[in-house]
Amino acid sequence: MDTQMKIPQHVAFIMDGNGRWAKKRFLPRTLGHKAGTENLRKIITYAKDIGISYVTFYAFSTENWKRPAEEISALMDILLTYLRAETKNFVKEGARLNILGDLSDFAEEFQNEINNSVQLTKNCDRIIVNIALNYSGRSDIIHGINEMLKNGTVESITENDFSKYLYTKDMPEPDLLIRTSGELRISNFFLWQLAYSELYFTDVLWPDFNEKEFEKALKNFTQRDRRFGGLKDD
Ligand code: IPE
Ligand code: IPE
Ligand code: MG
Repeated sequence: MDTQMKIPQHVAFIMDGNGRWAKKRFLPRTLGHKAGTENLRKIITYAKDIGISYVTFYAFSTENWKRPAEEISALMDILLTYLRAETKNFVKEGARLNILGDLSDFAEEFQNEINNSVQLTKNCDRIIVNIALNYSGRSDIIHGINEMLKNGTVESITENDFSKYLYTKDMPEPDLLIRTSGELRISNFFLWQLAYSELYFTDVLWPDFNEKEFEKALKNFTQRDRRFGGLKDD
């Protein structure tokens, strides 16, 4: 690894292109989701090994419910199988699983399995792995506002106070967002949290996004001049 590389604290991924990856191989879309899910391990390990503290994976958006029921249930089965097999490895790697989004719309078995993995990894402290499920940026903000209202009448609130009501409370905002598969949009992912994130888009499809591609993104990030509205240092 390049010693000059700037290591972001938090990297978020819009894991897109599973369907097209499968199509290119004349396979059913679900095999693309399987390959995409199995790709998580190497990305998490690489992130942890180079010292990234938080990674977030957008796995299922609130809009993805528009897909055919068979695709959704196959995707949930794949995620369930992955979690069952992978939780031990999360613990071994020191990866703490955290879910962003509203799980209550999923089957009970699915919720239980996820909560179980969250519990089993709760003391892991090498890296936090957020998986965004039934998540969207807008629903995050609306969920936060409703939580805030539950706490009684609020007359005014600061940005800092409000960020504590989001699913990402207590976490740094992403320094870098990576979207695979060539789409140049946010698709209702982190809206609040991306205010000053560096954006990186690649044509590589998610199941093909490997350590080398990740390193390319990090090298690109290293060249960025983050000003946060201020002026250059030099
Ligand atoms: C991303 O892959 C995974 C999810 C959104 C669940 P897609 O399923 O969107 O793959 P494409 O965009 O059709 O190739
Ligand atoms: C974004 O991908 C959502 C996830 C990766 C979970 P989509 O494939 O749903 O996004 P659009 O429809 O191309 O914007
Ligand atoms: Mg897509």
